[in-house]
Amino acid sequence: MNGYIINGGRRLGGRVRVHGAKNAVLPIMAAAVLSGDVCRIYDSPLLSDVIHTVKILETIGCSVSLEGDMLKIDALSADRWEIPEDLMREMRSSIIFLGALCGKMGKARLCSPGGCELGNRPIDLHLKALRELGIEIREENGFIEASCERMHPADIHLSFPSVGATENIILASVRLKGETTISNAAKEPEIVDMCDFLNKMGADISGAGTEFIRIKGKASLHGAEHKIIPDRIVASTLMCAAMTTKSEIELLNVRKEHLGAVVSVLRESGAKIEFFKDKMYIRAPEKALPADMIKTQVYPGFPTDAQSVVMAALCYSEGTSVIVENIFDSRYKIIPELKKMGADILQDARVAIIKGSSLRGARIRAMDLRGGAALTVAALGAQGESRLEGIEYIDRGYVKLEDMLNGLGADIVRV
Ligand code: UD1
Repeated sequence: MNGYIINGGRRLGGRVRVHGAKNAVLPIMAAAVLSGDVCRIYDSPLLSDVIHTVKILETIGCSVSLEGDMLKIDALSADRWEIPEDLMREMRSSIIFLGALCGKMGKARLCSPGGCELGNRPIDLHLKALRELGIEIREENGFIEASCERMHPADIHLSFPSVGATENIILASVRLKGETTISNAAKEPEIVDMCDFLNKMGADISGAGTEFIRIKGKASLHGAEHKIIPDRIVASTLMCAAMTTKSEIELLNVRKEHLGAVVSVLRESGAKIEFFKDKMYIRAPEKALPADMIKTQVYPGFPTDAQSVVMAALCYSEGTSVIVENIFDSRYKIIPELKKMGADILQDARVAIIKGSSLRGARIRAMDLRGGAALTVAALGAQGESRLEGIEYIDRGYVKLEDMLNGLGADIVRV
């Protein structure tokens, strides 16, 4: 098993570039199938989830190559519509291929997806919406078979603005004759990025980033070039690393407009944060203040993906902070691990109460992607050595997190 040995207590300094967003590149890779052509995707982060998605693309007949950070997807020969169980079980976001295969091949066969264990992660909203588009979906023994013979445009209202369901509806309907609309759509920047890419491919999608999206079907799409937006969760993680180590660092390749909720909490905690074009500076306070109440919400609210790293930062504040996790019920798996480091955290269902103090190094284990990043951030500020297991989770969403942090002066060894 891979692990990190982290020697805590070192100040960070200098600058680091934030790589492209995992949650944008994955749906964009699926969207490339719809082009039936060659697409070039720049600033593609070479993450293990991206490598799994490459395998899925190859299984359905695409040829994929990586030149530096440019992912070239040739979908000219994409003609298969089945995704093997082992590839589907590897990660939750593979469900995005249900919409992409329906939109391109008119049928799909795949099984229920895997991914980080974040509690109940159903796909009922995806299936309900696709059925409203006239797609026949049969579920049997964990397999999903979709057939689009009677597919038609529809006005779909999502009872909850699910990111994945919004993406699946768009991918399924983008080549469908007529106009499909989504109300109460998810507004996450990664959805906007996917729609920007689709529009470059010749699609006609408007309203992405708002709660009402209009898709005017275009039968024929073509290849396109696109640069992935910066990863706002990687940026949040690095900001929290500055907080736990009481450091000043510079982040390159960030979008101020995507970071509002996290920046607001860190400013409340005493951080000085300044933006200049596509870069930012953060200077952490010597004595961080607690956060009154953080409630995770859909975008532009506080992102659930940044909740764990901010919890790690609040463990070092002077006072009591409260977090309410509203999106995923199992986001608190890091609490027992943080407690091994001396954290004082009380949890009751969705609420966590954090009494800030300082932490010490310990043997700890990551159990999901963002939890792994949070434990790394916590260990950076701790006195002494931490041994973190389960870093394969971190590799799903961060391109060599240890290199990014060591470049800033951290002492992390991958073993
Ligand atoms: C995406 C992100 C993930 C992020 C999440 C919320 C990707 C690859 N992943 O996940 O990093 O944490 O958005 O911002 O982009 N739900 C249902 N039924 C459904 C679908 C969702 O009940 O059919 C519930 C989920 O259980 C969860 C909530 O809706 O409680 C949010 O899920 P959703 O927005 O769909 O997140 P994902 O697309 O899975």
